[in-house]
Formats: sequence, structure tokens, C-alpha cells
Amino acid sequence: MFKFIDGEDTQTSISFLLEDQKIEATEGMSVAAALLANGITTFRQSAVSNEGRGPFCLMGTCYECVVLIDGVHVQACMTQVRAGLSVDRIPTATTGIEE
Ligand code: FES
Repeated sequence: MFKFIDGEDTQTSISFLLEDQKIEATEGMSVAAALLANGITTFRQSAVSNEGRGPFCLMGTCYECVVLIDGVHVQACMTQVRAGLSVDRIPTATTGIEE
């Protein structure tokens, strides 16, 4: 789905957790880019319709990518990955997140 256009061989690989799932990433990526590159497109569920929501703008304006990092709501597209990061999707009152 996503592919690096250059520098792929020289960048440092790291990993972090999305809930219990190990996510591989490259240093310098945003959390949103790393999740999308690992095939994860549902970051949260709509509080109104309960439909899955995911990144849309990738530049910090739509807030569709909000996740919990260390218990704090953050925009995944505006947060750089770092090794050992613990990312959680925001639970809804009615159901859990399903891909
Ligand atoms: S994708 Fe729009 S704010 Fe992150």
C-alpha cells in the first residue's frame, strides 16, 4: 500500500506496540504512517455511527487519526514513532475496534 521512495536501506528500523500487536516502523515516520504501512486503517470508531475511522488529511487538521499514547489523546499523524511506544485505540462505549 505504501512504499518508501528513497533512503529505505539507510534508515533505522524500530518497533512499538499497538495494543498487543508489534508494529515495525522506520525512525522518522509518524505513528499514522507506521500503522498504515502495517495495514492498519481503523484507528478509532465514530461516536455517532460506530463506523471505523482512520487518517484522512495526514497533516494535523482532521483529527481522524486520534489514538492514545501513554494515556494521552494525540494525533497519530503528528507524532513521530519511537522505540517502545505504547499506542492504544480509543475504546468506544458500545463495541471494541475491529479491522
Ligand atoms: S490524519 Fe488528519 S489530523 Fe491526523
